[in-house]
Amino acid sequence: MYQVKKIKEDLYWVGANDRRLSLFENVYPLTHGVSYNSYLMLDEKTVLFDTVDKAVDQQFYENITHVLNGRSLDYLIINHMEPDHCACIESICTKYPEVQIVCNVKTEAMIKQFFNFNIDGRTVIIKEGDKLETGRHTLTFVMAPMVHWPEAMVTYDCTDKILFSADAFGTFGSLDGRMFADEMDFENKMLDEARRYYTNIVGKYGLQVNALLKKASTLEISMVCPLHGPVWRKNIGWFIDKYLKWASYIPEDKAVMIAYGSIYGHTENAAEILASALNDLGVKDVMMYDVSSTDNSVIISESFRCSHLVFASATYNLGIFVKMEETVHDLVAHAIQNRTIAVIENGSWAPSAGKLIREQMAKLKNCTVLEDNILVRSSVKEDNRAQLLALAEKIAADF
Ligand code: FEO
Repeated sequence: MYQVKKIKEDLYWVGANDRRLSLFENVYPLTHGVSYNSYLMLDEKTVLFDTVDKAVDQQFYENITHVLNGRSLDYLIINHMEPDHCACIESICTKYPEVQIVCNVKTEAMIKQFFNFNIDGRTVIIKEGDKLETGRHTLTFVMAPMVHWPEAMVTYDCTDKILFSADAFGTFGSLDGRMFADEMDFENKMLDEARRYYTNIVGKYGLQVNALLKKASTLEISMVCPLHGPVWRKNIGWFIDKYLKWASYIPEDKAVMIAYGSIYGHTENAAEILASALNDLGVKDVMMYDVSSTDNSVIISESFRCSHLVFASATYNLGIFVKMEETVHDLVAHAIQNRTIAVIENGSWAPSAGKLIREQMAKLKNCTVLEDNILVRSSVKEDNRAQLLALAEKIAADF
């Protein structure tokens, strides 16, 4: 049965929620599903903005059929070619043979890569600033390369001031009957998942996201319709400000994230002593994460939020403890900047984790890696405790 949402007088959400998917992109754990958003505009011409993942295609087709109510589909605008949004292009073309695909040249090439059906003669190739008149609405297009793939673009409805923002301004999490961010406690219940979505998926491309935000700042925006998560119609500036920080690698909070990799608990003990000392010194926003049991996506997200990062690792096979190695590699791959970083290592006979982590952290731009070299030999001793208290004081001095 159809399940649609009216967004504006002539605009409908025709997407669907997926609560069965456990790993988004087969990488990122989903704790409360995800929505695949597609929008259908009923103007003199009918316009579909993107499609959905194949996992929810039946719901999607029922939604479109209901909203079109016998009308034909004139345009399918493809803002992003990742299969979580474009899986149904061929089926839409089969169901609505008269539909024209509106896309840029990079998208056209990707359609040919992903599909085998013939799109020749059914594409309208647009470039930045081109306009598409659909009746009451005038749509224009803004290229958004690497937000999140090279072909990505966003569409702006000049008439109703709506930005169809593709992956930008999305979030993990199903919609659960709601449509707008102002219908939920977004800051307390969704922001963490919005950050985890953005930082892990698009976080590496801050430069490109900033370029899009700069272009968007010239537009009057009354509503943002992303491809995942709720639609924004109120307090849009608050969310844009989050994006400005994330894209510029500016810490969102004065806070300390301590990620630790501990085999028998001694490295964890060192991390615990540091966290406790920070609290005693008045640093209240301190979070500890065991890299063995915490998904990397959480640690990446927290690294974007926090101003100070501490990595405490055991040595393993003359290297970094394997779970910590993955975390460090992932963090460097996300090119985080502007952080103060501290390293604690443990090694019973040939400690090397500290040096190797420092070598990785040296690749990050504008990061200060504190020189304090805290080496735990198997278990924390009094001299280590004193070093940890001194490190806490150094970090607390920044707060
Ligand atoms: Fe939601 Fe980059 O796709």
